[in-house]
This record gives sequence, C-alpha cells and structure tokens, in this order.
Amino acid sequence: MKRTIVAMPGDGIGKVVLPEAIRVLEAAGFEADYINGDIGWEFWCSEGNPLPQRTIDLLEEHKIGLFGAITSKPKAKAAAELSPELQDKGFVYYSPIVSMRQHFDLDICIRPCRAFPGNPLNFIRKSADGGFEEPPVDVVIFRQNTQGLYAGVEWTDPPQNVRDALATHPRFKAFLDVPGEDLAVSTRIFTREYCRRIVTAAFEYAQKHGYKSVTVCEKPNVIRETSGMMEAEAAEAAKRFPDIQLWSTNIDAQMMWLTKNPEDYGVIVAGNMFGDIVSDGFAGLVGGLGFACSANIGREVAVFEPTHGSAPKYEQLDPSIVNPIAMVLSACMMLDHIGEADKAERIRSAVAGVIADGKVRTYDMLKMPGGADVVAKGAATTQQVTDAIIERL
Ligand code: NAI
Ligand code: MG
Repeated sequence: MKRTIVAMPGDGIGKVVLPEAIRVLEAAGFEADYINGDIGWEFWCSEGNPLPQRTIDLLEEHKIGLFGAITSKPKAKAAAELSPELQDKGFVYYSPIVSMRQHFDLDICIRPCRAFPGNPLNFIRKSADGGFEEPPVDVVIFRQNTQGLYAGVEWTDPPQNVRDALATHPRFKAFLDVPGEDLAVSTRIFTREYCRRIVTAAFEYAQKHGYKSVTVCEKPNVIRETSGMMEAEAAEAAKRFPDIQLWSTNIDAQMMWLTKNPEDYGVIVAGNMFGDIVSDGFAGLVGGLGFACSANIGREVAVFEPTHGSAPKYEQLDPSIVNPIAMVLSACMMLDHIGEADKAERIRSAVAGVIADGKVRTYDMLKMPGGADVVAKGAATTQQVTDAIIERL
C-alpha cells in the first residue's frame, strides 16, 4: 500500500531540510505520496493562524506528518507582522507545533540520542590516566508531551476565584498579600492516565530494543504530587517488565551525571519540561541540533520532526549549509513507526557510514562558526551531505 505523508516544511531551514529527507526516503525505496501541509509564520501573517484548519484536516485524514521547523516571535512582533487587514481583530499567536501536539493529543515524545562513531562532535572525557575516552552514548528520552508546565494553564494576576482556590492550600499563605499584577502562576498538571501512557511506552520500547534500564527523571522529593505520580506509575509499570531495571534520578542530578557517565543510561522517561531539558542535555553529547531527531506520537496521528528550529540566520544562504541529518533521522523514526524498520535501518547505516568516512561534513561537524564562507573553507553543503547518504544507500 502506498502511503500518503503530510509534509509540513514550515519556515526557514525547515524548507531546506524536509525536501532533503524526502530525497533520502525515495532513494531507500520508500514509496509514498507527499501532500504539502501549510504551517508557520507566513500563515500567521496572512491568515492570523500559523496552523490552518486545512492542515489539521490533512493530518486527520492521513495520520502521518513529517515536519521541518517553524519560526515563533514574541507577542509584540507577532502582532506587528500580522497583515494590516487582520490587525486588532483579536488574533493571538500560539505556537503551531504546540497546537498540533495538543489538538491530536500527541502525548508521547521520543527523542533518541545515539552517538555515531567517528562524529567529531561526540562527547569525550578525560580518563584517570590523563588520556581521553569517548563513552558510547545510546539514550532514548520519553517525554510526556502535552501536560505539565507546558499545558498553558497559567496567569499573571490570576482571577479572584483562582486566588481563593489557591488560598485553601496552607502554603499559599506566603503569597496572600502579593498584589495581583505582581503574581504569576503557571500550573504543573499531571494525570495518572498520561503518566501511565508515557512510562508504559518507555518500558515497551526498552524491552523491544534491548535496553536494560528505564530511568524516571523527575524531582519527587520536592515536587511531591506530580513527580510523585510519575514515579509511582513507573514503579507500577516496572512490575510488568521484570527484566528491565527501574532507576530514579532527580533532574538536577541527572544533568550533572549525564556528562560523568552517560553510557550508563538507556531509556529515560520524564514529564514535559524535564523531558525537554534532559533531552537537550543528551543531544549535546551526540552532536547537538544537527543530529537531534524526534517523534510526537498520539493514539492516531504521529508527527516526526528534528528538534532544531528554523535557524533564520541561515535560511537565505544559497547553497544551504545546515546539517540535514536531524531531519533524515526523524524520517527514519517515521519509517519505524509505520512498519518500515528495515528501510529505516538502511538509512541509519548510510548516515553512519558518511559520518565515519568523514569526507563530507557540514560546518557544525567541522566546528566552524556558521556563515556564507564555510563552503569555501571546506564544509559540505546540505545537498552534498544528502547526496553522500544517497550514494551509500
Ligand atoms: P534554532 O534551532 O533554529 O537554531 C539555533 C542554532 O543552532 C542555529 O543558529 C544554528 O547555529 C544551529 N542549528 C540549528 N539547526 C541546525 C542544523 N540543522 N544544522 C546545523 N546547525 C543548526 O533555534 P533558535 O535560533 O533559538 O530559534 C530560531 C527560530 O526557530 C525561532 O523563531 C524559534 O522560535 C524557532 N524554533 C522552532 C522550533 C520548532 O520548529 N520545533 C524549535 C526551536 C526553535
Ligand atoms: Mg527544546
């Protein structure tokens, strides 16, 4: 059966890397129709909506999306760039990727951070004898993607009934006299069902892919209710997976340990914000934004995207200099999800081959500051890296 994929390039370098990933998918023999899905800044400016209903309808129908990146700008800029006839009509900018995650309830975010041998950006550490060692990092973060601190239930100057409700908690006493305009509240709401879904997904993945541990990374000693619920559900899930160890770390300590002994960790599971933080931390050990891929998975719809943004300072460069690998690896996650794991593995091997070979490298892999001059200095273009991957395929 030929698949239909909703391809949403978005803004800036999203428009560059998504077509490159599609070239790789085609070279690997994956047959699909790609339908363009409008998303991003230009649709905010022209329609007052960066995620138009027609794109939601396409995802509803076809279920699988490949997404590049979008540009977001602060409130005042967003209002100023809205087209004149839409000004003062009550349009409010909201991140389309967050809207998409919430609309389709894409609650399971997967962010693999695997070091490719030979990547000059891999983390190294000093050994006791004064030499250097490169620990083999192979970590997969499961981030709850819809609740917690990013759910958007928040106020500055909360309404009186909210203040009254908060005042029923003894610890709110310390804030009773703060004037409304000086009081900001962002809630951290977890539900048991969604904690259960993310920890179960983490254990199932660990089992399927042979990881020996799942680490729940929260802060239950301080954030007792929400982190406590996540930890309790992890302990519950662990009973069904007796061969996999359950470890628990605090987010702050985890950020320290990830540069001390990153090779000790396998699957990590966390709430929305801590998952975001710990996944960026591990991504930094395996090459950073040019390599960080992700999946957003719901009950019906799934969207695959690199974790980098639109990198506006490079969007105009021709030829393009950005690394397409994060987008290509995101496309591999899509293949895994739709039952084409063999093609995903072939592409990942080709990527690994290009990295190990070391002849074709974008500026980030050569540790150059980005800019128009990097190609003259020996960096490969975006297209040359894609070509090298396709050559290997
Ligand atoms: P960014 O990820 O776009 O870029 C930060 C820096 O990382 C770039 O200047 C570049 O040096 C490097 N970089 C990013 N992708 C790269 C690649 N593929 N190859 C090589 N180097 C790469 O983050 P920034 O500059 O903070 O945000 C730019 C825009 O992107 C903002 O409007 C922001 O809101 C948006 N954004 C969107 C995201 C999304 O679509 N999911 C995620 C993060 C930011
Ligand atoms: Mg992030």
